Amino acid sequence: MRRMLVTGGMGFIGSNFVRYWRERHPEDTVVNYDLLTYAGNRNNVADLEEGPRYRFVRGDIADARQVGQVLAEERIDTVVHFAAESHVDRSIAEPQSFVGTNVLGTQILLEAARRHGVARFVHISTDEVYGTLGPEGLFSESTPLAPNSPYSASKAGADLLARAYFETYRFPVMITRCSNNYGPYQFPEKLIPTVITRALRDQPVPVYGDGLNVRDWLHVHDHITAVERVIEAGIPGEVYNIGGSNERTNLQIVHRILQELGKPFSLIEFVPDRLGHDRRYAIDSAKIRSQLGWNPLYTFEEGIVQTVNWYVSHAEWWQSILDGTYRRIDQAGRGGQSG
Ligand code: NAD
Ligand code: DAU
Repeated sequence: MRRMLVTGGMGFIGSNFVRYWRERHPEDTVVNYDLLTYAGNRNNVADLEEGPRYRFVRGDIADARQVGQVLAEERIDTVVHFAAESHVDRSIAEPQSFVGTNVLGTQILLEAARRHGVARFVHISTDEVYGTLGPEGLFSESTPLAPNSPYSASKAGADLLARAYFETYRFPVMITRCSNNYGPYQFPEKLIPTVITRALRDQPVPVYGDGLNVRDWLHVHDHITAVERVIEAGIPGEVYNIGGSNERTNLQIVHRILQELGKPFSLIEFVPDRLGHDRRYAIDSAKIRSQLGWNPLYTFEEGIVQTVNWYVSHAEWWQSILDGTYRRIDQAGRGGQSG
């Protein structure tokens, strides 16, 4: 039975992971450690709060004292590290917090986990550390790191620290680098939830530049099962790329969503491009498929229909984010530590 610390478990991928892990591994203890920044939403896993072997702790990964205390108190043996500042546009507008959380926070967490004797540490990274591709080729685990945004540079910094903790201390850390995720509970500032929630309100849908940038989309469930394989069978010191071989231009994504919602393409509004906008990402995930036996479940078609339906039937969830009331619940209603 594992005793697991999940950082960032109130965010998009982390909350999907926590829910999945509680269902699939009910005998394990899960401590959800999250600062509840703007991206953390306690409503995402509200249904789990009363359950056994689950605890939420509000805290900063950069707070060495609190991290050390939780690791010791809960006798943590496994860390799955999702917590990060994750939005590229915000990193362009205000890079400093990305360095604070993604670089310094990760180092503090690694150090606390090493001192505590954690047996397995999975560092969740991103394909964006590899930079951008031309029209051909795929990112493999040996592609040189060439991050282009403050976000991806901060994630690359964290990856190099994780690598150094393995090389220097033989600390058993594994790194995953996944492509773009989509699915339930994604914060409505990323492309897919932005398009769905704006189109549902008949508002213009912003497409950056010419809309021909390519991303390799993976349903969040499939990211999580890949992380599960790495927790269970990954080799310390190794990097695992995760991707769904689902390359789409942004315009293809927007068109498909508008079509699914029965909304006109005239909602599309071309807006100035993102600074330093990476043109194309595409992942070679042969290593995790062949070595750890991972395979994605969702086709993009199934996944996008499921995701659109989820947002249609969970309007309260995203409305409370858009009007800011989700923050009041976090802070006043149920904020602070709980056991
Ligand atoms: P998110 O922004 O939805 O959630 C991040 C969570 O981390 C939030 O709950 C936030 O409150 C928490 N957090 C932020 N700073 C913290 C701090 N200092 N201490 C403790 N908690 C803090 O992010 P996401 O999209 O779920 O991404 C999760 C991880 O996966 C990130 O590391 C990201 O780089 C990586 N990733 C994301 C994608 C994607 O498409 N979303 C793809 C590949 C990798
Ligand atoms: O590749 C993995 C990365 O995917 C993760 O590491 C990041 O945490 C995650 O945010 C995501 O980064 P992107 O920048 O690719 O995602 P985003 O949803 O912000 O944008 C996807 C594409 O859509 C990108 O080419 C920019 C474009 N875009 C985005 C928004 C929000 C638009 O055209 N219009 C928009 O309104």
